[in-house]
Amino acid sequence: MSQKIYVFDTTLRDGEQVPGCQLTTDEKVMIAKQLEKLGVDIIEAGFPISSPGDFKSVMEVSKAVTEPTVCALSRAVKGDIEAAAEALKFAKRPRIHTGIGASDIHIKHKFNSTREQIIEQAVSAVKHAKKFVEDVEFYAEDSGRANLEFLAKLTDEVIKAGATVVNLPDTTGYVLPNEMFERISYIMNNVPNIDKAIISMHNHNDLGLATANTIAGIQAGARQVEVTINGIGERAGNTSLEEIAMILKVHKLGYHTNIESTLLSPLSLLVSQTMRMPVQANKAIVGRNAFAHSSGIHQDGFLKHTENYEIMSPQEVGVDKSSIVLTARSGRHALKHRLEILGFKLEKPELDYIYNRFLDLADRIKEVNDKDLVILMKEAVSV
Ligand code: KIV
Ligand code: ZN
Repeated sequence: MSQKIYVFDTTLRDGEQVPGCQLTTDEKVMIAKQLEKLGVDIIEAGFPISSPGDFKSVMEVSKAVTEPTVCALSRAVKGDIEAAAEALKFAKRPRIHTGIGASDIHIKHKFNSTREQIIEQAVSAVKHAKKFVEDVEFYAEDSGRANLEFLAKLTDEVIKAGATVVNLPDTTGYVLPNEMFERISYIMNNVPNIDKAIISMHNHNDLGLATANTIAGIQAGARQVEVTINGIGERAGNTSLEEIAMILKVHKLGYHTNIESTLLSPLSLLVSQTMRMPVQANKAIVGRNAFAHSSGIHQDGFLKHTENYEIMSPQEVGVDKSSIVLTARSGRHALKHRLEILGFKLEKPELDYIYNRFLDLADRIKEVNDKDLVILMKEAVSV
C-alpha cells in the first residue's frame, strides 16, 4: 500500500526570510490560496513574534484557507508561543511549530546551555504550546550535526510532552544522503514513543543535497517533508517542493503526496515573480530549459520518441509543450521538423543546402527562431 507523505510548505516562512523576497500580507494570502489548490497539507505562514506585519499575515492566511493546516513558527520561548497561538486563532487547523537548537555547536555557541537544559526548555515549550493547540510540531534545529543519542532522547521527551510532529532539520545542509538514511533509521529504531509522532524532514541545500537527503529521510521513515516552491530559502535554499513531488510521482517508491502536479509550473512563476527571485534556467521541473532539447543527438532521439529524452511529460507539471531550440548544435532532423511545421517540405538536396546556411546563421546569432527560418527560406528561394 502506498504511504502518504505530508507536504509542509514553508515558502511563506523560511522562503520569505530571504533578503529581497519579503511579501505583503496580500501577497502571502494570494500565494497561500494557490498552495491550497496545489494540495499542500500544511502551510507555514510565518513567524508571528518577528514583526506586526508577519503576525497579521499569519492571521489573514488562517482566515483565507480552509483545507490545509496553518502553522506558525516560534522559538521555545513563552512569548513567541503565545504570539503564534494568537495569530492562529482563526485557523481551522492550527499548528504551532516550536523548537530549539540540538547540536552541541548550537547548544554551546548559540544558547550557552547544556544538553539537559535544552531538553527541559524543549519539553516546557511543547507543553506550553499544547495549552493553545492540539497540533504541536517541535523542531530540533541543526539536527544534522547533533549527537544521535542525544537527538533520540530529545525526540522521545518532546513526544512524551505532546509533540505530534518532530522536525529534524539539516539546518546547515551538511549531511550526506546515506548518512541521512542512517540517522533517521537510528531515530526510528531508538525512540521508544516514535509511533506517537511523525518525523519530518527539513533540509537546506548548502551542498546541493537537500532533495536527495529528503528522499533518504522518507526511505528511512520520515512522513512529512518541509519544502518551498522553487527551493527558495536561506542561503542556498530549502528542499524544492516540485522536485520531491515529481520524484515521488515518477519513481514508484510506494509513497504519494496530494500535490496536483499540473499546477507546479504556474505556481513556480507566481512565486518567482512575487518574490522577485528568478528561477535558474536549468532548474529541475520548473526551469525554462527543463523541457528544452538543444543538441542534435538529443533532438533526433526526442523526435523519434519523446521518452528517449523525457522521463515525465511537460503537461504533467503544467508546461504546454517541450521545445526544440535550434542552435549550431542542432541536426538536420530538428531543422527539417521545424521547417515542416512552418510549411516547408524539403527533399534531401534542398535540405542539405538550407542546413549549411542555417549553420552559418546559427554560428552568428546563437539561437535561430521561426522568423529567422522564414527569412532564410525566402533568401534561399531568391538565390
Ligand atoms: O532550518 C531550520 O532549522 C529551520 C527551523 C527554524 C525549522 O528553519
Ligand atoms: Zn530552515
